Amino acid sequence: MSNVVLGVGGGIAAYKVASLLRLFTEHGHDVTVVPTASALQFVGAPTWSALSGKPVATDVWSDVARVPHVRIGQQADLVVVAPATADLIARAAAGMADDLLTTTLLTASCPVVFAPAMHTEMWLHPATQANVATLVGRGVHVIPPASGRLTGADTGPGRLPEPGDLYAACLHLLESAAPAAPSRGVLAGRHVVVSAGGTREPLDPVRFLGNRSSGKQGYALAAVAAARGARVTLVSANVTLPVPAGVDVVEVGTAIELQDAVTRAAKDADVVVMAAAVADFRPRTVASSKIKKTHAETVAGPDESAPTIELVRNPDILAGLVQARGDRARGDRLRPIVVGFAAETGDAAGSVLDLAREKLVRKGCDLLVANEVGDGVAFGTDTNTVHLFYRPGLAGAPGERTAGPAPKEAIAAVVWDGIQPLL
Ligand code: C5P
Repeated sequence: MSNVVLGVGGGIAAYKVASLLRLFTEHGHDVTVVPTASALQFVGAPTWSALSGKPVATDVWSDVARVPHVRIGQQADLVVVAPATADLIARAAAGMADDLLTTTLLTASCPVVFAPAMHTEMWLHPATQANVATLVGRGVHVIPPASGRLTGADTGPGRLPEPGDLYAACLHLLESAAPAAPSRGVLAGRHVVVSAGGTREPLDPVRFLGNRSSGKQGYALAAVAAARGARVTLVSANVTLPVPAGVDVVEVGTAIELQDAVTRAAKDADVVVMAAAVADFRPRTVASSKIKKTHAETVAGPDESAPTIELVRNPDILAGLVQARGDRARGDRLRPIVVGFAAETGDAAGSVLDLAREKLVRKGCDLLVANEVGDGVAFGTDTNTVHLFYRPGLAGAPGERTAGPAPKEAIAAVVWDGIQPLL
């Protein structure tokens, strides 16, 4: 994984940065924390050391023989400064080198992110704004502060964004960074197919049966695969999100269209990830004109009747992909690797995890990514919690794992980390 330097400035929001550090380490990144002297007034060195699993360097005079003021910056894949205080921004903009963090900033050639947090007056002051503009002009990525409650009773722009949002922004930079990021290129030469969104099954020219999938998780999976060097075909069902860079999109509407597009793209694919919510049923007939209410008067009063819609089953695309690979011994590695998603609510018949294990066996895919969905959970939101289950006995499969709640970009990285050992 990546070498991240987490520069912590002396602001009260330093306490939130402890959670950001956890998100990095939980996802396998190697983090070197470089707090300023004032940051340590807010959160002490033992906290940073315990959460990063490493000693914390706080000044340029410790461990001089290893030249930390040059080495830390040179070895970084990403430097994150949070909270970036007005003072720290000013010192960085002036190119000062009066502590370990500012020397690190001068030696880093990787992407650098600043997440400013301070009182609204300090943030809006022309001096701070000019310093921020100087940093942006030099290629520094600045995550604007959020608006809301500040330390006292006052509110306004100046809050440090939530750790999950900061993590998502950092991960995006790491994934799309120059060759410095070691994760880049691991999928080079591979063709991956990702389905995303939700199918719509028409009833008549204006109505359809649909679902609440936003496509965010599928799009994040496509973006991460492209950032890791794969050729990506994204089969997208009714999604309004921007297309990730370097991804080929095939737009579809119904389950049958999605099946056609996925089956065609899967012919030379190394991996197919079925993240789309595919309707299990479709109306048997599609009316050629809009289905109307009747307004006839009957002896019993106004006609309140409603049509009955007869449904037929859609093909199970995932199961079809598995069958098309042929029937071989359980441990065999087959092509393409087929990954299913199981969005479950859990019911009297079993928990989300029980249902997912049963589905893995029934569908026969290599990896099943189970996630809990429901009102306000997963669908349409920016975060997800997932459990990864592998086909029993599959050669090269790592153990089951759980990830989240985390931004969907972070979940996408975990899913690809879980697929790569199978390739
Ligand atoms: O059976 P269930 O719909 O819960 O399974 C979900 C998984 O199966 C997802 O990966 C989804 O894309 C896929 N699926 C499919 N064809 C269907 C229904 C679901 O490929 N008709």
